[in-house]
Amino acid sequence: MISALSFRLTKRFGTRTVLDEFALEVHGGEFVTFLGPSGCGKSTALNLLAGLIPATSGEIRLDGSPIDHLPPERRGFGMVFQNYALFPHLTVFDNVAFGLALRARPRAEIAQRVRRMLQLVRLTEFEARYPSQLSGGQQQRVAIARALAVEPRLLLLDEPLSNLDAKLRLEMRSELKRLHADLRLTSIYVTHDQSEALSLSDRVVVLRDGRVMQVGTPAEIHDRPRTRFVADFMGYRNFFPVTVDRIEPGGLVVARGKDVTLTGRPVTPLAPGSAAVAAVRPEDVELTAELAGPNVVRGTVRLTEYLGREHDVEVALDSGTMVMARVERPVEVGSAVGLRLPSERVVVLPAGDGA
Ligand SMILES: Nc1ncnc2c1ncn2[C@@H]1O[C@H](COP(=O)(O)OP(=O)(O)OP(=O)(O)O)[C@@H](O)[C@H]1O
Ligand SMILES: [Mg+2]
Repeated sequence: MISALSFRLTKRFGTRTVLDEFALEVHGGEFVTFLGPSGCGKSTALNLLAGLIPATSGEIRLDGSPIDHLPPERRGFGMVFQNYALFPHLTVFDNVAFGLALRARPRAEIAQRVRRMLQLVRLTEFEARYPSQLSGGQQQRVAIARALAVEPRLLLLDEPLSNLDAKLRLEMRSELKRLHADLRLTSIYVTHDQSEALSLSDRVVVLRDGRVMQVGTPAEIHDRPRTRFVADFMGYRNFFPVTVDRIEPGGLVVARGKDVTLTGRPVTPLAPGSAAVAAVRPEDVELTAELAGPNVVRGTVRLTEYLGREHDVEVALDSGTMVMARVERPVEVGSAVGLRLPSERVVVLPAGDGA
């Protein structure tokens, strides 16, 4: 197993900078996810690491040694692409055996290893089928088995679940989680789906326009986004422009906006008088019988959407500001409600940090 992969990469296509000094150290056995919107450079970063395209400048080191000069096949990495990229004219068995056959391993060893991989992804009975005879999820599992078969030092996965329907995605997500728990293979995973990133990763790297916005554990990124961009990506839907009023002894910030005075957790030190944004997730907003008080706003229900177990509710405050809440009991459109924004769930971000 590798003990570290570190890189610092810049990539330009023409005059356009797609990755700008993207630097990271990935530890052996770690599962790291690159998370960001379409076009932020996630696939480009994976392709650079795999050696499929050259960097404009920078360096990749594996256990301390530069590997930039190595062609893809000599890096010893496994790659799973978004579109599976299986060989249509080869059976499942031969697809998985492909990399091993290239390395001219003995037949018996290949057969043993392929069967072990098919067992791992639970496709043992499918070895004689062709890709066209498999479901999307099964094809994706073949692609994963193929990448694992060569015992890669590093596994690179580019949105491997994005072509699957919602149910299969969840199943395959658990499958990937199980595989990583079993094999502890150092893995870099690319996605624009925050729930995938949170559920699979040891660490998440949030990218925007080829730059790192934040690196942290799923809990850090989720509970302490440092910018509005990251908060937005993590499902914060309510953003109140506020001015910092004072800092409480426990470190909480009291901030005043046009709709409400909120107490919340600052993600960076904020001076009284500074402009900030208070962010809250709909899931953290609570219905309350109170119509005024600390961290309480009142308004009129404009829209409700039944989700099966919960209801998404849009509430218009008197000022016109809309607040989104996800609540467990139904409320009627047109009714007046009080909403509590619990202070431990209100994140106070510096204003004007982008997005
Ligand atoms: N070969 C290329 N020539 C020119 N521009 C490119 C090339 N490959 C990628 N780009 C541009 O680089 C940017 C980053 O692309 P990349 O494929 O890395 O994004 P991504 O984050 O993987 O997006 P998605 O989530 O849509 O897959 C995009 O603006 C893309 O248009
Ligand atoms: Mg991509």
